[in-house]
Amino acid sequence: MELDNERILSSDSQEGDLTDFLSLRPRFLREYIGQQKVKNELDIYIKAALKREEALDHVLLYGPPGLGKTTLALVIANELDVQIKTSSGPAIERPGDLLAILNELNAGDILFIDEIHRLPRIVEEVLYSAMEDYYVDIVVGQGATSQPIHFELPPFTLIGATTRAGMLSQPLRDRFGIMAHMQYYQEADLNEIVKRSAQVFGVDIHPDASYEIALRSRGTPRVANRILRRVRDFAQVNDGDGNIGFQHAQKALETLEIDKYGLDALDRRLLQTMIDYYNGGPVGIATIAVNIGEDVVTVEDMYEPYLLQTGFIQRTSRGRKVTSLAYQHLGYPTPKE
Ligand code: ADE
Repeated sequence: MELDNERILSSDSQEGDLTDFLSLRPRFLREYIGQQKVKNELDIYIKAALKREEALDHVLLYGPPGLGKTTLALVIANELDVQIKTSSGPAIERPGDLLAILNELNAGDILFIDEIHRLPRIVEEVLYSAMEDYYVDIVVGQGATSQPIHFELPPFTLIGATTRAGMLSQPLRDRFGIMAHMQYYQEADLNEIVKRSAQVFGVDIHPDASYEIALRSRGTPRVANRILRRVRDFAQVNDGDGNIGFQHAQKALETLEIDKYGLDALDRRLLQTMIDYYNGGPVGIATIAVNIGEDVVTVEDMYEPYLLQTGFIQRTSRGRKVTSLAYQHLGYPTPKE
């Protein structure tokens, strides 16, 4: 069973009004928990755009996976009361694919491109004029019969999401007027998200249980909601009434092998590999990835940022190093400097 890739917040679900109401996704900024700084800024820019009756400036949402970038894009569309078309960097292979999507937009609408750092360069170059002056020039046909065609577009808002702002080219980055850096969530905010999700599921959750889930969700709502689903399973089967107590949370977390820092088996294997085979580092990320049988992008996007944030590893000019916290946590004696 592939738990890691389970998409709790699927980006392609088209939900009706009633199911939306019952869904885990918040629909408005006031329902969106956490990311206070991002929300405060967006609130102003959205209100200003509405007052001027203009399209919102282009928005770049960046930060680790699972923090609610797609959800926030949908919230922005709702707040502006406009349509949103969604796609992703790797899905837009040619300029013509981009034009087909842009062609469907009405004035003020949003185009959401997930994983925008993976847009092919030839598509990215077409996007520049679309973003800046709302037109695209593309060449149709081949050889002697090829000709450039000019398309005017309505004013629209591009929302790009990426786990790697650093991988965006400078010209693309420069065309986003609004840059929103999504941070790992505070425990109190995750606790609120878990309580809200339990309410959506129609189950009672003991405060100790929701807090335990929040503590161990690595700052990530997608992880918190995924754990909550499993905890709910334990509560349903073990006692029958389905209400979630602390013991259900503990049992599920133990089964999922998630420890008190929110590290899972793979996080621990990564740290252990660095200690056992590389003396704690420094060691390159590609070498670590090969050793634990994961691809580099997964390690860089999903594992490394949280291990850095929680202080289990450090980045040095010669690669990654584990810290004394990692030695302690895994039960090794701390080496002398
Ligand atoms: N569900 C997932 N992320 C959320 C958030 N930030 N606020 C409210 N509900 C959520």
